[in-house]
This record gives sequence, structure tokens and C-alpha cells, in this order.
Amino acid sequence: MYLILFGAPGVGKGTQAKMISNYFKIPQISTGDMLREAIRNKNDLGKSAQSFMDKGSLVPDDLILKIIKHRILEPDCSRGFILDGFPRTIAQAKSLALLMQEMQLPPFILVDINVSDKDILDRLMGRKTCTKCGADYNKLTRPAPENNICTDCGGTIATRDDDNEETIQNRLRIYGEQTAPVKDFYKKRGTFINIDGNKSVEQVYFLIINELNQLQELQRNR
Ligand code: AP5
Repeated sequence: MYLILFGAPGVGKGTQAKMISNYFKIPQISTGDMLREAIRNKNDLGKSAQSFMDKGSLVPDDLILKIIKHRILEPDCSRGFILDGFPRTIAQAKSLALLMQEMQLPPFILVDINVSDKDILDRLMGRKTCTKCGADYNKLTRPAPENNICTDCGGTIATRDDDNEETIQNRLRIYGEQTAPVKDFYKKRGTFINIDGNKSVEQVYFLIINELNQLQELQRNR
């Protein structure tokens, strides 16, 4: 299965991608996580990406495409994968389509998760993340311990640099201008599933899995 989890910052792409990855046993590929790892490792990619990410702007397409091309050729992607946070521009979508064609892989299923801007702001302003293992804490669902020590791995819990109100508003504006138009690209080319993300994590997960299982059933019966 080849999936794209799509939607504005904070709609739950990462949360759902991890759960779907467990269910279908295919890897989650998060460009945001890969970039944050590069920043932690202080490598060339991290140095080039940091200033864009701090402002909430998009990292240039050529850098992103390089890491995606490399990643989807790895053996764990042979049965499919879940893209989380990619593609984010029409140019990225076009390059991905070419790559999939070259690799003779089937069209993507795009899962578009929708959440109101107010709820997005509440979620992102309430989020903290473990800087070591990436565990997610949130005032709304799983508050971080007062000492900010991760209960999963003992690492330090911190607020992501781009989770402040000004940067979140910029991320939302850029999503509307540059990323949302990517939906139309896939409406014409792949399978498009619309999901109401204004529900609990478990309810959203159930909605997505239900839709994907129905699709698989349809494909089997063809
Ligand atoms: P990225 O890391 O992709 O960030 P994002 O798109 O802004 O998404 P988030 O991780 O903030 O949110 P999400 O939708 O994954 O939600 P999550 O599950 O985490 O990108 C960061 C930056 O990297 C970009 O701004 C850009 O600079 C750069 N970048 C990345 N990819 C790029 C690309 N392809 N091209 C160019 N630049 C790129 O959930 C958020 C919070 O809400 C969590 O705390 C979670 O617990 C909570 N939550 C989730 N679901 C629910 C629910 N149903 N109810 C209540 N709370 C919930």
C-alpha cells in the first residue's frame, strides 16, 4: 500500500502515520522527522534546513527530493510506505509521480485529514516532544511530567522550536498557499479519502483504517 497522509500542520498526520504503520506493517516516512534528525546531527542538510524550519517556511524542493529518493529505495519500502509531510508543493508531487512511474509502482492513496484552525492551534501550543526518542506529550491528551523527563526513555522533553503562535500561523498560511493545491493534483490521479480529524485519536484512526480496508476489499474483488 502506498499512502500519503495529508493535511495542515497539527492535524495528526504523524500520530496517525505511526498507528497505520503498525497496522499495515509498512514504514512511516516523515520528512519533518528526517530534517529534525539532520539538525540534531548538525550535518549539511540540517544546517541548510534549520533557518527555513525555524520560520515555518518550506525547505527547498531539491533538498527534500534528495532525501525522499534515497529513503524510498531502502528495502523496508518494498511492500509500500506512508508519506507524512511530503509532498508539500506541486513540484514535489510531480517529481514523486515521475519517480513512482520509473519504479513501476501503483498510484497513491491520499488521506486528507481536516481539523479547524482553532483546534490546530490548541494542539500545537499544547505539544511537547522528547528530544531523544520523539515521544509525544500534549496538555490535551498526555500531559508531560512536571520535571520534563520522558517516561519512555529518560530523555529531555521540550517544546518544538516551530510550535510558537507566530510560526504556527506562518505554517498554516504556507499550507494554504503552497500545500493545499497538491490535493487537486491527486484528485485527478489517485484515490482520495477525506477524513474528519476533529475527533479523538482513536476515532480518527478507526475512520482511516475502515476506509483503507474497504478500498483493499474492493481491489481484491476486481
Ligand atoms: P513537519 O514535521 O511535517 O510538521 P507539520 O506538517 O507542521 O506537522 P506536525 O508534525 O506539526 O503535525 P502533524 O499533522 O504531524 O500532527 P501530530 O500527529 O504531530 O514539518 C516541520 C517543518 O519541516 C515544516 O514547517 C518545513 O519547514 C519542513 N518540512 C517538512 N517536510 C517538508 C517538505 N516536504 N517540503 C518542505 N519542507 C518540509 O499531532 C500534533 C499534536 O496534536 C500532537 O501533540 C498530538 O498528540 C496531538 N493530536 C494528534 N491527533 C489528535 C487528536 N485527534 N485529538 C487531539 N490531539 C491530537
